[in-house]
Amino acid sequence: MKLRPRLTQNSLLFGGVAAWGLLLISCVSVNRTMLAPPFIAGAVFVGDKACAECHADTTDHFAAATHAKISLVEPGSKIGATGCESCHGAGSIHVKAGGSRGTIVNPDKSPETCFACHLDKRGQFSLPHAHGVASGKMGCSECHDPHQGKAIKGTGASLHTQAESCTECHTAQKGPYIFKHNAMKEGCTACHNPHGSVNNKMLNAPDSNLCLQCHATGSNPGQLFAFGRDHVGNPVNGTCWVAGCHEAVHGSNVSHALRF
Ligand code: HEC
Ligand code: HEC
Ligand code: HEC
Ligand code: HEC
Ligand code: HEC
Ligand code: HEC
Ligand code: HEC
Repeated sequence: MKLRPRLTQNSLLFGGVAAWGLLLISCVSVNRTMLAPPFIAGAVFVGDKACAECHADTTDHFAAATHAKISLVEPGSKIGATGCESCHGAGSIHVKAGGSRGTIVNPDKSPETCFACHLDKRGQFSLPHAHGVASGKMGCSECHDPHQGKAIKGTGASLHTQAESCTECHTAQKGPYIFKHNAMKEGCTACHNPHGSVNNKMLNAPDSNLCLQCHATGSNPGQLFAFGRDHVGNPVNGTCWVAGCHEAVHGSNVSHALRF
């Protein structure tokens, strides 16, 4: 499917001059407006096969990767980026130099390459509560794999769960707990948005609604039923996890009601 090209400041930034932008924009098989790949002055596209010569360890696993399908080639044209070069930029100078550093884009700590196609993520990471991706403290690749399998770590054929990709850093939430909170089975994203949120602790909701999406039972006006008992008047400051109530939201070793 051909997508309508859209020129913005970004495409100029990544496409160099507008002419390049127009040539390279568009055309993946999914419904997403594409921008240009990173621009490297003077370099031309050489294709994934050229990379395999020296980076076989990466190219060998790439075929099934989410991003292997990306093609920024204008229909009817043969010039453009596919696979590797859609994130790393045109490779001719790098290849000719025998692969020296600084001749190709390495999006290790800068999310700009990813933002070029995932426009919405720039906004999410500038929300008040977000991982330090925009400031370069952390890369998207801490949680996403650009080179193999499903791009979201812990999904697809991965042996790890999605939560395990979080608890590698957040060991305090790892457990195991004697009293589990079964919400954790749904993954951390049942309650947090790792890309950013307006709410404290990157929560999906600032108040009891976070919990009531799973725990609301009964809907008589003026009543708030959870666990078979009316909770109206309970959540003093609007959250269920205030001290003295269900503080141990991730799991507990002492209280089945997850109180501490
Ligand atoms: C002739 C061999 C060769 C080819 C072909 C080659 N590379 Fe490299 N590449 C290297 C070497 C060697 C390094 C490591 C340089 C170092 O560590 O000093 C490297 C480094 C890189 C880096 C890290 C650069 C940095 O500044 O940190 C990226 C990204 C990269 N290559 C991508 C590619 C892509 C994409 C292709 C295909 C378009 C490709 N390479 C083709 C040899 C090659
Ligand atoms: C979705 C974007 C994306 C695609 C497509 C992609 N890469 Fe990368 N690449 C990255 C990111 C992000 C990094 C830095 C983080 C990392 O090393 O995982 C990186 C790092 C690298 C490095 C440097 C690794 C190091 O240790 O310094 C090489 C080499 C490389 N990629 C080669 C390739 C090759 C070859 C392909 C195609 C088979 C490819 N990449 C496709 C995003 C991508
Ligand atoms: C050239 C455009 C382009 C670039 C650059 C790009 N992506 Fe993507 N990305 C896509 C497209 C298109 C899809 C949708 C693929 C699909 O659904 O099959 C996608 C999907 C994803 C997904 C969802 C995968 C899933 O299984 O649902 C993640 C996560 C992702 N990209 C992360 C990244 C990260 C991190 C970077 C930077 C290292 C990046 N992307 C760079 C185009 C791009
Ligand atoms: C702290 C971990 C983390 C970081 C850092 C992160 N992501 Fe994600 N991302 C996730 C998780 C977890 C999901 C799956 C969300 C779900 O299943 O609800 C996801 C989903 C996605 C998706 C597919 C669904 C969607 O929201 O469109 C895209 C695209 C994506 N991430 C892009 C990015 C990009 C681009 C960056 C860097 C700018 C990034 N992510 C950084 C954890 C992260
Ligand atoms: C590479 C390590 C790393 C990974 C992986 C990681 N985080 Fe984080 N996380 C951090 C750091 C560091 C902070 C501190 C905030 C900052 O970046 O300034 C943080 C902050 C948080 C916070 C807010 C804590 C607070 O006190 O405000 C939440 C919630 C969170 N992460 C959830 C997640 C989830 C969910 C995932 C998996 C999708 C995840 N994290 C993956 C390193 C990581
Ligand atoms: C049932 C909802 C829920 C799930 C699922 C969940 N969290 Fe939380 N998380 C919360 C709430 C609520 C808070 C705020 C607690 C507070 O402010 O006292 C929080 C706080 C945090 C914090 C900040 C801790 C602190 O001491 O301030 C981190 C980090 C965090 N969660 C990581 C994770 C990780 C990693 C996962 C998945 C393994 C996860 N959470 C799953 C609800 C959840
Ligand atoms: C994704 C769904 C989901 C969310 C969101 C969720 N929970 Fe749960 N929770 C469960 C499931 C499933 C159980 C176990 C079955 C049951 O008792 O209903 C459970 C059980 C509990 C229990 C009882 C534990 C026991 O052993 O009796 C408490 C207390 C609890 N949750 C509090 C909370 C609080 C507080 C929040 C909000 C921070 C929350 N839950 C958010 C799914 C969820």
